[in-house]
Amino acid sequence: MSTLLDIQNVTVRFGGVTAVEDVSLRIGERELLGFIGPNGAGKTTLMRVITGMVRPQAGAVVFKGTDISTWPIHKRIRGGLALAQQIVQPLHAFTLLENVVLSAGGAKTGNPITALLSNARDDERAVALELLERTGIGAAADRYPGELPLGFLKRLEVSRALALKPDLLLLDEPLAGLNQAEAESLADLIAKLAAGGQAIMLIEHNIREVTRICPTLYVQDNGRALAHGPADEVMADPAVRRAYLGLEEAC
Ligand SMILES: Nc1ncnc2c1ncn2[C@@H]1O[C@H](COP(=O)(O)OP(=O)(O)OP(=O)(O)O)[C@@H](O)[C@H]1O
Ligand SMILES: [Mg+2]
Repeated sequence: MSTLLDIQNVTVRFGGVTAVEDVSLRIGERELLGFIGPNGAGKTTLMRVITGMVRPQAGAVVFKGTDISTWPIHKRIRGGLALAQQIVQPLHAFTLLENVVLSAGGAKTGNPITALLSNARDDERAVALELLERTGIGAAADRYPGELPLGFLKRLEVSRALALKPDLLLLDEPLAGLNQAEAESLADLIAKLAAGGQAIMLIEHNIREVTRICPTLYVQDNGRALAHGPADEVMADPAVRRAYLGLEEAC
């Protein structure tokens, strides 16, 4: 498997807190990588380093063979990176369909509002609807985010990220806040996207689902890499089990 993303010796400090310490990690093309670790392990911070939202004190991010460490966020998005955030942030004044059109158009024009007003041609709306259908919320395309439960908004967040046609899809806790049935169904969708060739980095606390769908796991604890390898081997690692007090209950 050839390398898609190569994180090299990244360190991030916030004042006195070292959120990420000398982390190196590779993700291959078409890989579905589960990224786990206790609260405060620096998972979101590392994902933000990838998208350019956080600049590391040390290290480099190489994407598709190019060092993108100095690239601004919008350039990284156009270059093929998309993030579905931990806290969903839909545009409440717009329908689900419009939210997806805005995401796709914003990446293309650099101005999401222009994208909606002047650029939202029928074909773009059709593509957006197809994405909503793919993520299982096509029937709610004309509804507003405020009218819908969290499960829909989590899927909308994934749809918006997919609208950017990313080479690498970054998902930060897409299953958080969902009940087990909803989580299982969204995890199935993520597995299906991966089976279709979409490379995905998936941060999750839902160990049952992440181990069910991810062949490979990377574990970070207290800012440091703890384990990386086949999911069953990683989960059997005593250091990983120690990092997760109460893991037995979670499984
Ligand atoms: N913008 C920031 N300013 C200051 N400290 C921060 C900032 N972002 C994160 N931190 C700190 O960095 C550490 C890692 O946080 P991060 O959010 O990356 O962890 P996480 O693994 O995503 O945790 P969780 O599983 O709870 O989402 C924590 O100690 C956090 O308080
Ligand atoms: Mg986080």
